[in-house]
Amino acid sequence: MIALRNVTKKFETQVAVDNLSMELQTGELCMFVGESGCGKSTTLRMINRLIDADEGVIEINGKNIYDYNEVELRRSIGYVVQNTGLFPHMNVRENISIVPRLLKWNENKILDRAKELIDLVGLEVESYINKYPSELSGGEAQRIGVARALAADPDIILMDEPFGAVDPLNRANLQNEFMKIQKQLKKTVIFVTHDIDEAMKMGDKIAIMSKGKLEQFESPETILLSNNNFVRSFLGKETYIKILNRFQVREYMKKDIKKELCYKVNVDENLRDALAEMIEYGTEAMSVVENGKIKGTLWLNDIVNIFQKG
Ligand SMILES: Nc1ncnc2c1ncn2[C@@H]1O[C@H](COP(=O)(O)OP(=O)(O)O)[C@@H](O)[C@H]1O
Ligand SMILES: [Mg+2]
Repeated sequence: MIALRNVTKKFETQVAVDNLSMELQTGELCMFVGESGCGKSTTLRMINRLIDADEGVIEINGKNIYDYNEVELRRSIGYVVQNTGLFPHMNVRENISIVPRLLKWNENKILDRAKELIDLVGLEVESYINKYPSELSGGEAQRIGVARALAADPDIILMDEPFGAVDPLNRANLQNEFMKIQKQLKKTVIFVTHDIDEAMKMGDKIAIMSKGKLEQFESPETILLSNNNFVRSFLGKETYIKILNRFQVREYMKKDIKKELCYKVNVDENLRDALAEMIEYGTEAMSVVENGKIKGTLWLNDIVNIFQKG
């Protein structure tokens, strides 16, 4: 668990983080959203002790971060930033190995770990392990950035707009892959973004910040029903469309109908993509396909009515 208790940080007269208190549960993926300058990065940097809070206490698993020694803290926190911060003169293997080296693992174990992680982030080990950052695309470099953060198997991952500089298609892939990894590893993750779409899609919980303060910290579903004016204005009108990407075709299709329709959707797609396809094709129903077989039908009506149940 990560706990912030009345944490304040000022830069001269500028209050970057203002009496912030919150608790993040172990194994949760928590999204920090808010306008530029609202204090997201400052909060992350205080948690990993890159900068010091002026007031308040930050605890990890009940222990003040200043009671950990530096190496111990580095080992328990992985950090991913935009544009990766990969060292240009080091190849992929060396970049991933930085923290394990610091921890004096033996060379075989370091190499095995590097290979395991390159594979985990969806790249082919033999073609990538000796590449230099300049030989990677933006998306590939971000993947290696994630691999590097995971190297010493930290309990906590702090990610500061990690996919912010990646084009939309690659960004969606990276989001999906990271969610898959997170499902498997169940790290305690703080993921900073200014993209409410990304937050809604990925988060177990969302912390909405404004001017250094926490406006709301809840599940995406609860945030959607918020009465907080700032939160509502931040979400905007497309909220209900946005949230559809959390719902899977698999769960909302009708299974009894096996008739093959003109348009098809994969069972693993989400309802937001499915809805977009229905609009594009001008259809009210699509056959749901899994491994080439028709598994049922997805109806526009069942998507439209989704929020009527709860
Ligand atoms: N090193 C710094 N020196 C002076 N002001 C800073 C520094 N870092 C951040 N700030 C200020 O603190 C506020 C919060 O910044 P930051 O945490 O980076 O916001 P965010 O990540 O949400 O965009 C901003 O007003 C920013 O200008
Ligand atoms: Mg920032």
